[in-house]
Amino acid sequence: MPDHIAIIMDGNGRWAQQRGLPRTAGHRAGAENISNVVDAAMKHGIKTLTVYAFSTENWKRPLDEVNALMALIPEFCTGKLKDMMKNGVRLRTVGRTDDLPALSRMALLGTIAKTAKNDKFTLNMALSYGGRAEIVDAVNKMLKEGRKSITEADFQNYLYAPDLPDPALIIRTGGEMRLSNFLMWESAYSEIYVTDTWWPDFSEADLVKALDWYATRDRRFGGIKTK
Ligand code: IPE
Ligand code: IPE
Ligand code: MG
Repeated sequence: MPDHIAIIMDGNGRWAQQRGLPRTAGHRAGAENISNVVDAAMKHGIKTLTVYAFSTENWKRPLDEVNALMALIPEFCTGKLKDMMKNGVRLRTVGRTDDLPALSRMALLGTIAKTAKNDKFTLNMALSYGGRAEIVDAVNKMLKEGRKSITEADFQNYLYAPDLPDPALIIRTGGEMRLSNFLMWESAYSEIYVTDTWWPDFSEADLVKALDWYATRDRRFGGIKTK
């Protein structure tokens, strides 16, 4: 079982479109589905889930859509706090969260602080996250410290979440065969599973399918066949 999985939660807009609803209704349904998938992941022995919720490129969407997505953050934080406390879920974030509006940022900081001691499961939300931004931010931190050279292991320490293991499995919903700037450094040897299912419809059964597929993979890391 992979201890860390990451999900590119794509397809909210198409899910809504198919139902004749505004895209924002898809985002609402998508946000709601995060808790279902957290519960399912916990049940199947996963310890950490990183979800790609908003990319550095998503800022270029229409202002109405961006505002609706930003408004879902405090809603999620207050709406799900009770469950997170009950289930031992710790909330974290990765990304340029300083760029989020104050209300979203404050809600996140509050929930991160309140859930900081929960140790059954980590829900890591990628918000205003870009893989290239993460690498550039890491390099700038190093330059500020006056470093002249670095190893791969040192570099890890400058990432947004240095303590997290690389995701063993990355799932993308919505069918696109691309990473869209997600975890550029960390995905070097991740197994990648793409499903056509749109994120709001992604269920425990879909997660189990992805985990079953993962179990059949031979992770060679550049070595030779091991099974
Ligand atoms: C993913 O759903 C959520 C975000 C990127 C914020 P989309 O909004 O990209 O949905 P599609 O891809 O247009 O269907
Ligand atoms: C990736 O989805 C980002 C998130 C799921 C948050 P996008 O919908 O933004 O990706 P592209 O534009 O299809 O590559
Ligand atoms: Mg999309």
